[in-house]
Amino acid sequence: MALKQILNEAYSDKHAIGGFNFFNYESAKAIVQAAKTTKKPTILMVSEKSVDYYGLDNLIFSFNKVKKDSEAQIFLHLDHGSNLELIKECINSGFDSVMFDGSNLALDQNIALSKDLRKLAHKKSVVFEAEIGHIGGREDYQITSAVFKTNPAEALMFYDQVQPDMLAVAIGNIHGPLTAIEELDFSLLAKIQDTVKRPLVLHGCSNRKPQEYQVAISEGVVKINIDTELREAFVDGIKDALHKKENDPREILNLSSLFISKRTQEKIELFAKGCCSR
Ligand code: G3H
Ligand code: ZN
Repeated sequence: MALKQILNEAYSDKHAIGGFNFFNYESAKAIVQAAKTTKKPTILMVSEKSVDYYGLDNLIFSFNKVKKDSEAQIFLHLDHGSNLELIKECINSGFDSVMFDGSNLALDQNIALSKDLRKLAHKKSVVFEAEIGHIGGREDYQITSAVFKTNPAEALMFYDQVQPDMLAVAIGNIHGPLTAIEELDFSLLAKIQDTVKRPLVLHGCSNRKPQEYQVAISEGVVKINIDTELREAFVDGIKDALHKKENDPREILNLSSLFISKRTQEKIELFAKGCCSR
């Protein structure tokens, strides 16, 4: 089934698909293992920093290799694309989905660029995600302390003018490790959903309480992004292996992959379970 259809079904059925960042072959394999075990559609995301670290061709190769080996229902997504050339390259290189992050731009510029890129993406049947409002914190190269919550009326205007397949919103969610000040504004999310009545994306979702995911899904969130938590799991796996005095790099990487798989599996199951009714 195509990703667009899966997202539409998630919206009407009130469940969500996990978007998980990977950065090399091992992390891709680990996420796909979880997708295979749960038998749930899963989105693997690459950031611009991972492209610089591992190379776009290596990331695509890793994705295709694990996809072929596992037969899991997985999709390749560009996360927080801000480099227009890279976004176009991903659209033309077989990505299932791309995100343009124009949240640093003035609203009219964000709308104009998002619209052009959405048209290019749709010509190739690539799902298009845009962002309105500004999610704070650190997501690889996107570093900012500023948080501008999404305005529901602007979100509706954005949806009407740009026609993205899904829209990332800022409701107090912040990228990076969870902090005490990070409170999700669910009444704002409800207002946004009541206004736009279309699929939403929630970023910065590492280490949230299961109930918070449920409420987000009940308000039309169809894609939930997790990055930091998987990177933490990878590092925990390495620490665990070193604590056990493991000195074979292959075993160290196997253990850290296992840690990523377990964490990913928990999240996929939670997101697939969905929510109570609105
Ligand atoms: O785009 C990726 C995410 O929004 C991940 O956020 O690192 O806080 O989990 P996170
Ligand atoms: Zn994000």
